[in-house]
Amino acid sequence: MASHKLRPEDLRSHRWFGGGDLSSQGHRSRALQMGYGREDFTSKPVIAIINTWSDLLPCHAHFRTRAEEVKRGVWQSGGFPVELPVMAVSETFQKPTSMMYRNFLAMETEEMLRSHPIDGAVLMGGCDKTTPGLVMGATSMGLPFIYLPAGPMLRGNWKGEQLGSGTDRWKYWAELRAGRITEDDWREVEEGIARSYGHCMVMGTASTMTSAVETLGLTLPGAASIPAADSSHPRMATATGRRIVEMVWEDLRPAAMLTPQAFDNAIKVVHALSGSTNALIHLVAMAGRAGVKLDWDHFDKLSEQVPVLANLRPAGQYLMEDFYYAGGLRALLKEIESLLDTKCMTVNGKTLGENIATAKVNNTDVIRSREKALSQTGGLAVLRGNLAPDGAVIKPLAAEARLLKHTGPAVVFKDYPDLRARIDSDDLKVDENSVLVMQNAGPLGAPGMPEWGQLPIPKKLLQKGIRDMVRISDARMSGTSYGTCVLHVTPEAHVGGPLALVKDGDLIELDVAARKLELKVGPEELAKRKAAWKPRPPHYTRGYGKVFSDHVTQANKGCDFDFLHAGAPTPDPDTHH
Ligand code: FES
Repeated sequence: MASHKLRPEDLRSHRWFGGGDLSSQGHRSRALQMGYGREDFTSKPVIAIINTWSDLLPCHAHFRTRAEEVKRGVWQSGGFPVELPVMAVSETFQKPTSMMYRNFLAMETEEMLRSHPIDGAVLMGGCDKTTPGLVMGATSMGLPFIYLPAGPMLRGNWKGEQLGSGTDRWKYWAELRAGRITEDDWREVEEGIARSYGHCMVMGTASTMTSAVETLGLTLPGAASIPAADSSHPRMATATGRRIVEMVWEDLRPAAMLTPQAFDNAIKVVHALSGSTNALIHLVAMAGRAGVKLDWDHFDKLSEQVPVLANLRPAGQYLMEDFYYAGGLRALLKEIESLLDTKCMTVNGKTLGENIATAKVNNTDVIRSREKALSQTGGLAVLRGNLAPDGAVIKPLAAEARLLKHTGPAVVFKDYPDLRARIDSDDLKVDENSVLVMQNAGPLGAPGMPEWGQLPIPKKLLQKGIRDMVRISDARMSGTSYGTCVLHVTPEAHVGGPLALVKDGDLIELDVAARKLELKVGPEELAKRKAAWKPRPPHYTRGYGKVFSDHVTQANKGCDFDFLHAGAPTPDPDTHH
Protein backbone atom coordinates (compact mmCIF):
# COMPACT_ATOMS: atom_id res chain seq x y z
CA MET A 1 0.00 0.00 0.00
CA ALA A 2 1.15 3.56 -0.69
CA SER A 3 2.91 5.42 2.12
CA HIS A 4 0.60 6.70 4.84
CA LYS A 5 0.88 10.28 5.92
CA LEU A 6 -1.91 9.99 8.45
CA ARG A 7 -2.30 7.71 11.46
CA PRO A 8 -5.75 6.39 12.40
CA GLU A 9 -6.00 8.95 15.20
CA ASP A 10 -5.39 11.73 12.65
CA LEU A 11 -8.52 10.82 10.72
CA ARG A 12 -11.27 13.42 10.86
CA SER A 13 -13.78 10.67 11.68
CA HIS A 14 -11.73 9.72 14.76
CA ARG A 15 -13.27 12.75 16.46
CA TRP A 16 -16.68 11.06 16.10
CA PHE A 17 -15.75 7.41 16.65
CA GLY A 18 -12.46 7.30 18.51
CA GLY A 19 -12.85 9.19 21.79
CA GLY A 20 -13.74 8.01 25.29
CA ASP A 21 -16.36 10.69 25.82
CA LEU A 22 -20.12 10.48 25.86
CA SER A 23 -20.71 11.66 22.30
CA SER A 24 -18.21 9.17 20.80
CA GLN A 25 -19.95 6.39 22.70
CA GLY A 26 -23.24 7.55 21.13
CA HIS A 27 -21.78 7.58 17.61
CA ARG A 28 -20.38 4.05 18.04
CA SER A 29 -23.60 2.71 19.46
CA ARG A 30 -25.56 4.13 16.53
CA ALA A 31 -23.16 2.57 14.00
CA LEU A 32 -23.63 -0.74 15.83
CA GLN A 33 -27.40 -0.14 15.66
CA MET A 34 -27.14 -0.30 11.86
CA GLY A 35 -25.64 -3.77 12.12
CA TYR A 36 -22.00 -2.82 11.55
CA GLY A 37 -19.41 -4.50 13.77
CA ARG A 38 -16.66 -2.50 15.46
CA GLU A 39 -14.17 -3.98 12.98
CA ASP A 40 -16.18 -2.38 10.15
CA PHE A 41 -15.48 1.18 11.24
CA THR A 42 -12.78 1.31 13.93
CA SER A 43 -9.70 3.23 12.76
CA LYS A 44 -10.88 3.18 9.14
CA PRO A 45 -11.28 6.12 6.76
CA VAL A 46 -14.99 6.87 6.41
CA ILE A 47 -15.75 7.40 2.74
CA ALA A 48 -18.88 9.30 1.73
CA ILE A 49 -20.43 8.17 -1.52
CA ILE A 50 -22.25 11.32 -2.55
CA ASN A 51 -25.00 9.98 -4.78
CA THR A 52 -27.13 12.09 -7.13
CA TRP A 53 -29.56 9.27 -7.92
CA SER A 54 -33.31 9.84 -8.30
CA ASP A 55 -36.20 8.28 -10.17
CA LEU A 56 -36.39 11.49 -12.21
CA LEU A 57 -32.77 11.57 -13.32
CA PRO A 58 -32.54 9.08 -16.19
CA CYS A 59 -28.87 9.87 -16.80
CA HIS A 60 -28.07 8.44 -13.35
CA ALA A 61 -30.45 5.46 -13.40
CA HIS A 62 -27.48 3.11 -12.80
CA PHE A 63 -26.24 4.94 -9.71
CA ARG A 64 -27.85 2.70 -7.11
CA THR A 65 -25.86 -0.21 -8.53
CA ARG A 66 -22.74 1.89 -9.06
CA ALA A 67 -22.81 3.02 -5.41
CA GLU A 68 -22.61 -0.65 -4.39
CA GLU A 69 -19.69 -1.13 -6.76
CA VAL A 70 -17.89 1.83 -5.20
CA LYS A 71 -18.55 0.37 -1.73
CA ARG A 72 -16.97 -2.91 -2.84
CA GLY A 73 -13.75 -1.02 -3.62
CA VAL A 74 -13.83 0.93 -0.38
CA TRP A 75 -14.19 -2.28 1.67
CA GLN A 76 -11.40 -3.92 -0.36
CA SER A 77 -9.06 -1.08 0.55
CA GLY A 78 -9.91 -1.06 4.26
CA GLY A 79 -12.30 1.88 4.35
CA PHE A 80 -15.82 2.27 5.71
CA PRO A 81 -18.24 3.34 2.92
CA VAL A 82 -21.37 5.34 3.69
CA GLU A 83 -23.81 6.48 1.01
CA LEU A 84 -25.15 10.02 1.36
CA PRO A 85 -27.87 11.04 -1.11
CA VAL A 86 -27.92 14.65 -2.31
CA MET A 87 -30.18 16.56 -4.70
CA ALA A 88 -30.21 14.81 -8.07
CA VAL A 89 -30.22 17.90 -10.28
CA SER A 90 -32.16 16.68 -13.29
CA GLU A 91 -31.51 18.48 -16.56
CA THR A 92 -34.57 17.01 -18.16
CA PHE A 93 -37.22 17.38 -15.51
CA GLN A 94 -36.38 20.26 -13.18
CA LYS A 95 -37.98 23.62 -13.91
CA PRO A 96 -37.66 26.50 -14.40
CA THR A 97 -34.13 25.25 -15.13
CA SER A 98 -31.60 22.92 -13.53
CA MET A 99 -29.23 25.89 -13.33
CA MET A 100 -31.29 27.24 -10.43
CA TYR A 101 -30.16 24.22 -8.43
CA ARG A 102 -26.45 23.83 -9.23
CA ASN A 103 -25.51 26.02 -6.29
CA PHE A 104 -28.06 24.25 -4.10
CA LEU A 105 -26.31 20.95 -4.85
CA ALA A 106 -22.93 22.57 -4.18
CA MET A 107 -24.08 23.82 -0.77
CA GLU A 108 -25.65 20.49 0.08
CA THR A 109 -22.49 18.57 -0.89
CA GLU A 110 -20.27 20.85 1.15
CA GLU A 111 -22.47 20.71 4.23
CA MET A 112 -23.14 16.95 4.03
CA LEU A 113 -19.38 16.39 4.09
CA ARG A 114 -18.76 18.93 6.81
CA SER A 115 -21.48 17.88 9.21
CA HIS A 116 -20.81 14.11 9.06
CA PRO A 117 -17.81 12.02 10.18
CA ILE A 118 -16.28 11.90 6.69
CA ASP A 119 -12.61 11.55 5.71
CA GLY A 120 -12.93 11.37 1.93
CA ALA A 121 -15.60 11.26 -0.75
CA VAL A 122 -16.58 9.76 -4.08
CA LEU A 123 -18.78 12.19 -5.97
CA MET A 124 -21.26 10.52 -8.31
CA GLY A 125 -22.51 12.80 -11.07
CA GLY A 126 -22.59 13.39 -14.81
CA CYS A 127 -25.85 15.05 -15.86
CA ASP A 128 -25.00 18.65 -16.71
CA LYS A 129 -25.14 20.64 -13.46
CA THR A 130 -24.20 17.75 -11.19
CA THR A 131 -20.53 17.81 -12.19
CA PRO A 132 -19.84 21.46 -11.36
CA GLY A 133 -22.22 21.42 -8.38
CA LEU A 134 -20.55 18.43 -6.72
CA VAL A 135 -17.03 19.61 -7.45
CA MET A 136 -17.73 23.16 -6.25
CA GLY A 137 -19.10 21.93 -2.92
CA ALA A 138 -16.42 19.32 -2.32
CA THR A 139 -13.68 21.81 -3.26
CA SER A 140 -14.96 24.27 -0.68
CA MET A 141 -14.95 21.50 1.92
CA GLY A 142 -11.40 20.51 0.93
CA LEU A 143 -11.43 16.80 1.87
CA PRO A 144 -9.84 14.25 -0.49
CA PHE A 145 -12.32 13.29 -3.20
CA ILE A 146 -12.58 11.49 -6.54
CA TYR A 147 -15.21 12.29 -9.12
CA LEU A 148 -17.06 9.32 -10.62
CA PRO A 149 -18.58 10.32 -13.99
CA ALA A 150 -21.86 8.63 -14.99
CA GLY A 151 -20.58 7.93 -18.50
CA PRO A 152 -22.40 8.68 -21.76
CA MET A 153 -25.44 6.65 -22.82
CA LEU A 154 -25.34 4.43 -25.91
CA ARG A 155 -25.67 5.96 -29.38
CA GLY A 156 -29.23 6.75 -30.45
CA ASN A 157 -30.74 4.95 -33.42
CA TRP A 158 -33.51 5.68 -35.91
CA LYS A 159 -33.86 3.38 -38.91
CA GLY A 160 -30.14 2.68 -38.76
CA GLU A 161 -29.23 6.35 -38.56
CA GLN A 162 -27.28 7.38 -35.44
CA LEU A 163 -29.05 9.94 -33.30
CA GLY A 164 -27.30 12.31 -30.88
CA SER A 165 -28.96 13.53 -27.66
CA GLY A 166 -30.49 16.95 -28.05
CA THR A 167 -28.67 17.72 -31.29
CA ASP A 168 -30.85 15.43 -33.42
CA ARG A 169 -33.94 16.34 -31.42
CA TRP A 170 -33.52 19.98 -32.49
CA LYS A 171 -32.73 18.89 -36.03
CA TYR A 172 -35.83 16.73 -36.47
CA TRP A 173 -38.05 19.22 -34.62
CA ALA A 174 -37.14 21.74 -37.30
CA GLU A 175 -37.82 19.11 -40.00
CA LEU A 176 -41.22 18.35 -38.47
CA ARG A 177 -42.12 22.05 -38.34
CA ALA A 178 -40.96 22.40 -41.94
CA GLY A 179 -43.26 19.48 -42.88
CA ARG A 180 -40.42 17.19 -44.03
CA ILE A 181 -41.00 14.33 -41.60
CA THR A 182 -44.27 12.84 -40.30
CA GLU A 183 -45.65 12.62 -36.76
CA ASP A 184 -44.93 8.86 -36.90
CA ASP A 185 -41.29 9.55 -37.78
CA TRP A 186 -41.10 11.99 -34.91
CA ARG A 187 -42.46 9.39 -32.47
CA GLU A 188 -39.87 6.86 -33.64
CA VAL A 189 -37.12 9.43 -33.06
CA GLU A 190 -38.53 9.89 -29.54
CA GLU A 191 -38.21 6.14 -28.91
CA GLY A 192 -34.72 5.74 -30.37
CA ILE A 193 -32.81 8.75 -29.16
CA ALA A 194 -32.16 7.67 -25.54
CA ARG A 195 -31.42 3.93 -25.48
CA SER A 196 -29.68 3.37 -22.15
CA TYR A 197 -28.82 4.97 -18.82
CA GLY A 198 -25.96 7.46 -18.93
CA HIS A 199 -25.69 11.14 -19.74
CA CYS A 200 -26.18 12.81 -23.15
CA MET A 201 -23.79 11.23 -25.64
CA VAL A 202 -22.86 14.20 -27.80
CA MET A 203 -20.16 16.68 -26.76
CA GLY A 204 -22.78 18.59 -24.79
CA THR A 205 -22.41 20.04 -21.33
CA ALA A 206 -22.28 16.67 -19.56
CA SER A 207 -19.43 15.26 -21.69
CA THR A 208 -17.66 18.63 -21.68
CA MET A 209 -17.71 18.95 -17.91
CA THR A 210 -16.77 15.34 -17.14
CA SER A 211 -13.87 15.68 -19.61
CA ALA A 212 -12.83 18.97 -17.99
CA VAL A 213 -12.94 17.38 -14.54
CA GLU A 214 -10.85 14.42 -15.70
CA THR A 215 -8.33 16.88 -17.16
CA LEU A 216 -8.26 18.70 -13.81
CA GLY A 217 -7.04 15.41 -12.36
CA LEU A 218 -10.18 14.69 -10.34
CA THR A 219 -11.17 11.29 -11.87
CA LEU A 220 -9.23 8.11 -12.43
CA PRO A 221 -7.52 8.32 -15.84
CA GLY A 222 -9.85 7.54 -18.73
CA ALA A 223 -12.99 7.53 -16.55
CA ALA A 224 -14.95 10.28 -18.32
CA SER A 225 -15.12 8.55 -21.72
CA ILE A 226 -16.35 5.10 -20.62
CA PRO A 227 -19.94 4.52 -21.80
CA ALA A 228 -22.28 4.03 -18.85
CA ALA A 229 -23.45 0.63 -20.08
CA ASP A 230 -19.93 -0.76 -20.71
CA SER A 231 -18.66 -3.27 -18.13
CA SER A 232 -15.53 -1.14 -17.76
CA HIS A 233 -17.75 1.38 -16.02
CA PRO A 234 -18.53 -0.65 -12.88
CA ARG A 235 -14.90 -1.79 -12.78
CA MET A 236 -13.86 1.87 -12.82
CA ALA A 237 -16.36 2.54 -9.99
CA THR A 238 -14.79 -0.17 -7.83
CA ALA A 239 -11.29 1.09 -8.60
CA THR A 240 -12.45 4.57 -7.57
CA GLY A 241 -13.63 3.14 -4.24
CA ARG A 242 -10.28 1.45 -3.68
CA ARG A 243 -8.29 4.55 -4.55
CA ILE A 244 -10.17 7.06 -2.39
CA VAL A 245 -9.19 5.15 0.76
CA GLU A 246 -5.52 5.44 -0.17
CA MET A 247 -5.99 9.14 -0.95
CA VAL A 248 -7.24 9.72 2.59
CA TRP A 249 -4.17 8.05 4.11
CA GLU A 250 -1.96 10.06 1.74
CA ASP A 251 -3.91 13.22 2.63
CA LEU A 252 -4.11 14.06 -1.08
CA ARG A 253 -6.54 16.96 -1.10
CA PRO A 254 -8.17 18.83 -4.01
CA ALA A 255 -5.86 21.80 -3.54
CA ALA A 256 -3.02 19.61 -4.88
CA MET A 257 -4.93 19.19 -8.15
CA LEU A 258 -6.80 22.49 -8.56
CA THR A 259 -3.98 24.82 -9.58
CA PRO A 260 -4.10 27.60 -12.19
CA GLN A 261 -2.12 25.30 -14.53
CA ALA A 262 -4.72 22.54 -14.17
CA PHE A 263 -7.52 24.99 -15.02
CA ASP A 264 -5.57 26.10 -18.09
CA ASN A 265 -5.32 22.45 -19.13
CA ALA A 266 -9.07 22.03 -18.65
CA ILE A 267 -9.87 25.14 -20.71
CA LYS A 268 -7.61 23.92 -23.53
CA VAL A 269 -9.37 20.57 -23.53
CA VAL A 270 -12.77 22.26 -23.71
CA HIS A 271 -11.51 24.13 -26.80
CA ALA A 272 -10.05 20.98 -28.38
CA LEU A 273 -13.39 19.24 -27.86
CA SER A 274 -15.37 22.25 -29.12
CA GLY A 275 -17.17 21.73 -25.84
CA SER A 276 -20.29 23.32 -24.45
CA THR A 277 -20.55 27.06 -23.96
CA ASN A 278 -21.74 26.26 -20.44
CA ALA A 279 -18.13 25.41 -19.56
CA LEU A 280 -17.35 29.12 -19.46
CA ILE A 281 -19.76 29.55 -16.59
CA HIS A 282 -19.02 26.36 -14.68
CA LEU A 283 -15.22 26.48 -14.86
CA VAL A 284 -15.21 30.09 -13.62
CA ALA A 285 -17.38 29.04 -10.67
CA MET A 286 -15.28 25.94 -9.92
CA ALA A 287 -12.04 27.93 -10.10
CA GLY A 288 -13.57 30.52 -7.77
CA ARG A 289 -14.07 27.81 -5.13
CA ALA A 290 -10.41 26.79 -5.49
CA GLY A 291 -9.21 30.39 -5.15
CA VAL A 292 -8.10 30.51 -8.80
CA LYS A 293 -9.08 33.62 -10.73
CA LEU A 294 -10.42 32.92 -14.22
CA ASP A 295 -12.06 35.29 -16.63
CA TRP A 296 -13.56 34.93 -20.08
CA ASP A 297 -10.74 36.83 -21.77
CA HIS A 298 -8.38 34.13 -20.56
CA PHE A 299 -10.61 31.49 -22.22
CA ASP A 300 -10.47 33.46 -25.43
CA LYS A 301 -6.68 33.89 -25.25
CA LEU A 302 -6.13 30.16 -24.81
CA SER A 303 -8.47 29.38 -27.70
CA GLU A 304 -5.94 30.89 -30.12
CA GLN A 305 -3.45 28.08 -29.35
CA VAL A 306 -5.79 25.10 -29.46
CA PRO A 307 -7.06 23.25 -32.55
CA VAL A 308 -10.43 21.47 -32.44
CA LEU A 309 -9.55 17.79 -32.70
CA ALA A 310 -12.71 16.01 -31.51
CA ASN A 311 -15.01 15.31 -34.45
CA LEU A 312 -18.09 15.06 -32.21
CA ARG A 313 -21.62 16.42 -32.51
CA PRO A 314 -22.85 19.10 -32.38
CA ALA A 315 -19.70 20.63 -33.96
CA GLY A 316 -18.66 17.44 -35.77
CA GLN A 317 -19.96 14.08 -36.81
CA TYR A 318 -19.53 11.33 -34.20
CA LEU A 319 -20.85 10.43 -30.75
CA MET A 320 -19.22 9.70 -27.38
CA GLU A 321 -19.28 5.95 -27.90
CA ASP A 322 -17.15 6.45 -31.02
CA PHE A 323 -14.86 8.74 -29.02
CA TYR A 324 -14.32 5.96 -26.46
CA TYR A 325 -13.46 3.40 -29.13
CA ALA A 326 -11.12 5.96 -30.75
CA GLY A 327 -9.08 6.16 -27.53
CA GLY A 328 -11.20 8.56 -25.45
CA LEU A 329 -10.05 11.62 -23.61
CA ARG A 330 -6.61 10.21 -22.80
CA ALA A 331 -5.89 9.90 -26.52
CA LEU A 332 -7.08 13.45 -27.17
CA LEU A 333 -4.90 14.72 -24.31
CA LYS A 334 -1.95 12.89 -25.87
CA GLU A 335 -2.58 14.70 -29.18
CA ILE A 336 -2.40 18.11 -27.47
CA GLU A 337 0.26 17.09 -24.94
CA SER A 338 2.65 19.83 -26.07
CA LEU A 339 0.02 22.45 -25.12
CA LEU A 340 -0.59 21.06 -21.63
CA ASP A 341 1.20 21.33 -18.32
CA THR A 342 1.74 17.60 -17.88
CA LYS A 343 3.26 17.99 -14.41
CA CYS A 344 -0.16 18.59 -12.85
CA MET A 345 -1.07 16.11 -10.10
CA THR A 346 -4.09 13.81 -10.37
CA VAL A 347 -6.10 11.73 -7.91
CA ASN A 348 -4.23 8.50 -8.63
CA GLY A 349 -1.07 10.12 -7.27
CA LYS A 350 0.51 10.37 -10.71
CA THR A 351 0.91 13.35 -13.01
CA LEU A 352 -1.29 14.01 -16.03
CA GLY A 353 1.74 13.25 -18.22
CA GLU A 354 2.27 9.84 -16.59
CA ASN A 355 -1.41 9.02 -17.00
CA ILE A 356 -1.39 9.63 -20.75
CA ALA A 357 2.06 8.16 -21.47
CA THR A 358 0.68 5.09 -23.25
CA ALA A 359 -2.47 6.65 -24.75
CA LYS A 360 -2.97 6.57 -28.49
CA VAL A 361 -5.58 7.39 -31.10
CA ASN A 362 -7.31 4.38 -32.71
CA ASN A 363 -9.43 6.30 -35.20
CA THR A 364 -7.99 9.44 -36.72
CA ASP A 365 -11.30 10.59 -38.15
CA VAL A 366 -12.88 10.80 -34.67
CA ILE A 367 -9.84 12.26 -32.90
CA ARG A 368 -8.04 14.28 -35.53
CA SER A 369 -4.38 15.24 -35.75
CA ARG A 370 -3.52 18.94 -35.72
CA GLU A 371 -3.05 18.84 -39.51
CA LYS A 372 -6.59 17.52 -40.01
CA ALA A 373 -8.19 19.58 -37.24
CA LEU A 374 -11.82 20.70 -37.58
CA SER A 375 -10.51 24.19 -36.88
CA GLN A 376 -7.04 25.48 -36.14
CA THR A 377 -8.30 27.59 -33.24
CA GLY A 378 -10.47 26.71 -30.30
CA GLY A 379 -14.11 25.87 -30.23
CA LEU A 380 -15.46 28.85 -28.24
CA ALA A 381 -15.11 32.59 -28.73
CA VAL A 382 -15.78 35.48 -26.35
CA LEU A 383 -17.32 38.60 -27.89
CA ARG A 384 -17.35 42.15 -26.60
CA GLY A 385 -18.85 45.44 -27.66
CA ASN A 386 -21.44 47.96 -26.59
CA LEU A 387 -24.11 45.24 -26.57
CA ALA A 388 -22.10 43.02 -24.18
CA PRO A 389 -19.68 45.16 -22.17
CA ASP A 390 -18.85 42.24 -19.84
CA GLY A 391 -18.82 39.65 -22.59
CA ALA A 392 -20.89 37.16 -24.56
CA VAL A 393 -20.07 33.73 -25.92
CA ILE A 394 -20.44 31.90 -29.24
CA LYS A 395 -19.47 28.46 -30.51
CA PRO A 396 -18.29 29.29 -34.05
CA LEU A 397 -18.08 25.68 -35.25
CA ALA A 398 -21.76 25.12 -34.47
CA ALA A 399 -22.70 28.10 -36.69
CA GLU A 400 -23.08 28.45 -40.45
CA ALA A 401 -19.82 30.07 -41.56
CA ARG A 402 -21.58 32.74 -43.67
CA LEU A 403 -23.13 34.22 -40.49
CA LEU A 404 -19.93 34.65 -38.49
CA LYS A 405 -19.64 38.15 -39.96
CA HIS A 406 -23.09 39.60 -40.31
CA THR A 407 -24.98 42.84 -39.79
CA GLY A 408 -28.76 42.81 -39.71
CA PRO A 409 -31.84 44.44 -38.21
CA ALA A 410 -33.04 43.26 -34.81
CA VAL A 411 -36.33 41.46 -34.26
CA VAL A 412 -36.80 41.77 -30.50
CA PHE A 413 -38.68 39.50 -28.12
CA LYS A 414 -39.03 40.94 -24.65
CA ASP A 415 -38.88 37.51 -22.99
CA TYR A 416 -39.39 33.80 -23.68
CA PRO A 417 -43.21 33.82 -23.48
CA ASP A 418 -43.22 36.68 -26.03
CA LEU A 419 -40.93 34.62 -28.29
CA ARG A 420 -43.16 31.56 -28.07
CA ALA A 421 -46.25 33.61 -28.76
CA ARG A 422 -44.94 35.36 -31.90
CA ILE A 423 -42.08 33.40 -33.47
CA ASP A 424 -44.27 31.42 -35.88
CA SER A 425 -46.77 34.20 -36.55
CA ASP A 426 -47.35 35.07 -40.22
CA ASP A 427 -47.22 38.76 -39.30
CA LEU A 428 -43.72 38.63 -37.82
CA LYS A 429 -41.56 41.05 -39.79
CA VAL A 430 -38.50 38.89 -40.28
CA ASP A 431 -36.28 37.60 -43.04
CA GLU A 432 -33.10 35.54 -43.18
CA ASN A 433 -30.93 38.63 -42.62
CA SER A 434 -32.72 39.59 -39.42
CA VAL A 435 -31.04 39.18 -36.04
CA LEU A 436 -33.33 37.53 -33.50
CA VAL A 437 -32.92 39.06 -30.02
CA MET A 438 -34.41 37.72 -26.80
CA GLN A 439 -34.29 39.75 -23.58
CA ASN A 440 -34.82 38.80 -19.93
CA ALA A 441 -33.56 35.23 -20.08
CA GLY A 442 -30.46 35.66 -17.86
CA PRO A 443 -29.63 34.51 -14.32
CA LEU A 444 -32.15 36.91 -12.74
CA GLY A 445 -34.40 37.63 -15.70
CA ALA A 446 -35.69 34.17 -16.58
CA PRO A 447 -34.87 33.25 -13.74
CA GLY A 448 -31.95 30.83 -13.63
CA MET A 449 -30.56 31.48 -17.13
CA PRO A 450 -32.29 28.56 -18.88
CA GLU A 451 -31.08 26.93 -22.07
CA TRP A 452 -33.32 28.99 -24.31
CA GLY A 453 -30.51 30.54 -26.34
CA GLN A 454 -31.03 28.45 -29.47
CA LEU A 455 -34.00 30.62 -30.49
CA PRO A 456 -36.16 28.73 -32.99
CA ILE A 457 -36.05 29.79 -36.62
CA PRO A 458 -39.45 31.31 -37.56
CA LYS A 459 -41.62 28.74 -39.29
CA LYS A 460 -42.05 30.75 -42.46
CA LEU A 461 -38.26 30.88 -42.88
CA LEU A 462 -37.90 27.17 -42.11
CA GLN A 463 -40.32 26.48 -44.92
CA LYS A 464 -38.08 28.52 -47.21
CA GLY A 465 -35.17 26.23 -46.28
CA ILE A 466 -33.47 28.57 -43.80
CA ARG A 467 -31.81 26.59 -41.00
CA ASP A 468 -29.61 29.19 -39.28
CA MET A 469 -29.80 32.88 -38.36
CA VAL A 470 -27.94 35.15 -35.94
CA ARG A 471 -29.62 34.86 -32.55
CA ILE A 472 -28.68 36.83 -29.44
CA SER A 473 -29.77 36.46 -25.82
CA ASP A 474 -28.66 36.51 -22.21
CA ALA A 475 -29.71 32.85 -21.89
CA ARG A 476 -27.50 29.79 -22.04
CA MET A 477 -27.78 27.13 -24.72
CA SER A 478 -27.76 23.39 -24.34
CA GLY A 479 -24.33 21.99 -25.16
CA THR A 480 -26.14 19.73 -27.60
CA SER A 481 -27.50 22.70 -29.60
CA TYR A 482 -26.14 24.39 -32.68
CA GLY A 483 -26.57 27.54 -34.74
CA THR A 484 -25.22 31.10 -34.79
CA CYS A 485 -26.32 31.74 -31.22
CA VAL A 486 -24.69 34.51 -29.21
CA LEU A 487 -25.23 33.61 -25.57
CA HIS A 488 -24.61 34.79 -22.00
CA VAL A 489 -24.84 38.48 -22.98
CA THR A 490 -23.56 40.23 -19.85
CA PRO A 491 -24.80 42.23 -18.04
CA GLU A 492 -28.22 40.67 -18.60
CA ALA A 493 -31.32 42.63 -19.64
CA HIS A 494 -33.01 42.18 -16.26
CA VAL A 495 -30.38 44.34 -14.53
CA GLY A 496 -30.49 46.98 -17.27
CA GLY A 497 -27.69 45.72 -19.49
CA PRO A 498 -27.63 47.16 -23.02
CA LEU A 499 -29.52 44.11 -24.29
CA ALA A 500 -32.59 45.57 -22.54
CA LEU A 501 -32.35 48.66 -24.74
CA VAL A 502 -32.46 47.01 -28.18
CA LYS A 503 -35.50 47.84 -30.32
CA ASP A 504 -36.94 46.31 -33.48
CA GLY A 505 -35.01 47.46 -36.54
CA ASP A 506 -31.79 48.45 -34.71
CA LEU A 507 -28.79 47.22 -36.66
CA ILE A 508 -26.56 44.71 -34.86
CA GLU A 509 -23.08 43.76 -36.05
CA LEU A 510 -21.57 40.38 -35.26
CA ASP A 511 -17.95 39.81 -36.25
CA VAL A 512 -16.61 36.66 -34.62
CA ALA A 513 -13.08 36.95 -36.03
CA ALA A 514 -12.84 40.47 -34.55
CA ARG A 515 -14.65 39.24 -31.38
CA LYS A 516 -17.17 42.06 -31.86
CA LEU A 517 -20.84 42.45 -30.95
CA GLU A 518 -22.07 45.99 -31.59
CA LEU A 519 -25.44 47.66 -31.41
CA LYS A 520 -25.35 50.35 -34.09
CA VAL A 521 -27.17 52.95 -32.02
CA GLY A 522 -25.48 56.16 -30.85
CA PRO A 523 -24.56 56.76 -27.20
CA GLU A 524 -27.09 59.64 -26.76
CA GLU A 525 -29.97 57.52 -27.97
CA LEU A 526 -28.85 54.63 -25.74
CA ALA A 527 -28.62 56.99 -22.74
CA LYS A 528 -32.18 58.18 -23.47
CA ARG A 529 -33.45 54.60 -23.63
CA LYS A 530 -31.59 53.70 -20.43
CA ALA A 531 -33.20 56.64 -18.59
CA ALA A 532 -36.64 55.41 -19.69
CA TRP A 533 -35.92 51.74 -18.82
CA LYS A 534 -37.84 50.30 -15.85
CA PRO A 535 -36.71 47.18 -13.98
CA ARG A 536 -39.10 44.24 -13.78
CA PRO A 537 -40.21 43.05 -10.34
CA PRO A 538 -38.19 40.19 -8.82
CA HIS A 539 -39.46 36.64 -9.44
CA TYR A 540 -39.23 35.57 -5.80
CA THR A 541 -39.81 37.19 -2.44
CA ARG A 542 -39.34 34.06 -0.31
CA GLY A 543 -37.69 30.65 -0.18
CA TYR A 544 -34.72 29.31 -2.09
CA GLY A 545 -35.66 31.48 -5.07
CA LYS A 546 -35.11 34.56 -2.92
CA VAL A 547 -31.67 33.34 -1.83
CA PHE A 548 -30.88 32.68 -5.50
CA SER A 549 -32.09 36.13 -6.61
CA ASP A 550 -30.27 37.96 -3.82
CA HIS A 551 -26.92 36.27 -4.31
CA VAL A 552 -26.42 34.85 -7.81
CA THR A 553 -23.63 36.54 -9.75
CA GLN A 554 -23.69 37.37 -13.45
CA ALA A 555 -22.60 34.81 -16.05
CA ASN A 556 -19.04 36.14 -16.40
CA LYS A 557 -18.56 35.53 -12.66
CA GLY A 558 -19.82 31.95 -12.93
CA CYS A 559 -23.35 32.42 -11.49
CA ASP A 560 -22.09 31.22 -8.11
CA PHE A 561 -23.57 32.77 -4.99
CA ASP A 562 -21.45 35.70 -3.88
CA PHE A 563 -21.11 34.31 -0.33
CA LEU A 564 -19.75 30.94 -1.53
CA HIS A 565 -16.59 32.18 -3.24
CA ALA A 566 -13.31 31.10 -1.72
CA GLY A 567 -12.50 32.99 1.44
CA ALA A 568 -11.53 32.19 4.99
CA PRO A 569 -12.05 28.48 5.72
CA THR A 570 -15.35 27.47 7.33
CA PRO A 571 -14.64 25.91 10.74
CA ASP A 572 -15.26 22.20 11.24
CA PRO A 573 -18.13 21.51 13.66
CA ASP A 574 -17.35 20.46 17.21
CA THR A 575 -18.48 16.93 18.02
CA HIS A 576 -19.47 17.27 21.65
CA HIS A 577 -23.20 16.83 21.26
FE1 FES B 1 -28.65 14.49 -18.36
FE2 FES B 1 -28.28 15.59 -20.90
S1 FES B 1 -30.13 15.30 -19.76
S2 FES B 1 -26.84 14.92 -19.47
